[in-house]
Amino acid sequence: ELPLTKEYLKSINKIYIIACGTAMHAGLSGKNTIEKLCRIPVEVDIASEFRYRDPIIDEKTLCIFISQSGETADTIAALKLSKEKGAKTLAITNVIGSSITREADYSIYTHAGPEIAVASTKAYTSQVVLINILAIYFAEILGSTPSSELTKLKKDIFNLPDKIEEALKSSEEIKNYAKNIYQEKDVFFLGRGIDYNTALEASLKLKEISYIHSEAYAAGELKHGPIALIENGISVISIITDKNLVEKTISNIQEVITRGAKTLVVTNQNLPANNFETIITVPDTDTLLSPILAIVP
Ligand code: BG6
Repeated sequence: ELPLTKEYLKSINKIYIIACGTAMHAGLSGKNTIEKLCRIPVEVDIASEFRYRDPIIDEKTLCIFISQSGETADTIAALKLSKEKGAKTLAITNVIGSSITREADYSIYTHAGPEIAVASTKAYTSQVVLINILAIYFAEILGSTPSSELTKLKKDIFNLPDKIEEALKSSEEIKNYAKNIYQEKDVFFLGRGIDYNTALEASLKLKEISYIHSEAYAAGELKHGPIALIENGISVISIITDKNLVEKTISNIQEVITRGAKTLVVTNQNLPANNFETIITVPDTDTLLSPILAIVP
């Protein structure tokens, strides 16, 4: 139902992904996968910034809008602006018939059922899945990634529900950890690469649900200022799922431990347990899909 031809996809020189909040964080995963599989540059923008800053858009731009509700005013305004400037527009939403679907050239649906909890795990995970499927579809049309790699990624997507079940088995450990930190005033989240995206979403949800102040930092950026805030007893939650970045992230965690931080690591890697106070393990999957599992705890 998405009539985007090879000719059209070859003609695009930029994709924008525009959204707010959790949906924007799902868009960050989209950037990773589309750039890797399709080799098209992708820019992710916050709708409330994008709409007021005269973005460079023309008919060679594809603009993708992600919105669970399909009703977020800034996202809809950004879509209208993109259309006026000649871009094709594609909406990713959960709500059939929502305002965004009436404005967009094309709409695809997460079919995640009604949104109930602020944690939004269902909205986020289904948006990340769908944008990965979209990237695979584009890559198939473009022939930009070997089909064996795409088939492997599809299998990994099909295995996600079982792996989420497995991730949920850590619920007792998670509860125990929560009991230890629920009175904290500040929590830091760290990650590199795709794990930084998960850190951003985790930090947003901690703020929205528990009213605990938190910050997410790209682990390598911590030393350029924010490390000054890491003092004795502060809680730092790190996410490590990209095997190529394990050592780099661990060395950043060591820096915060040296300053007296209490550390939790959410990981799918085999890490030396004695280095960190708490480790919560999530199942392994393709790195591109790892936010879907890492966000669960
Ligand atoms: C915010 C919510 O108001 O809207 C976030 O607090 C949400 O959780 C954001 O991600 C965007 O909503 P939507 O419906 O456009 O995805």
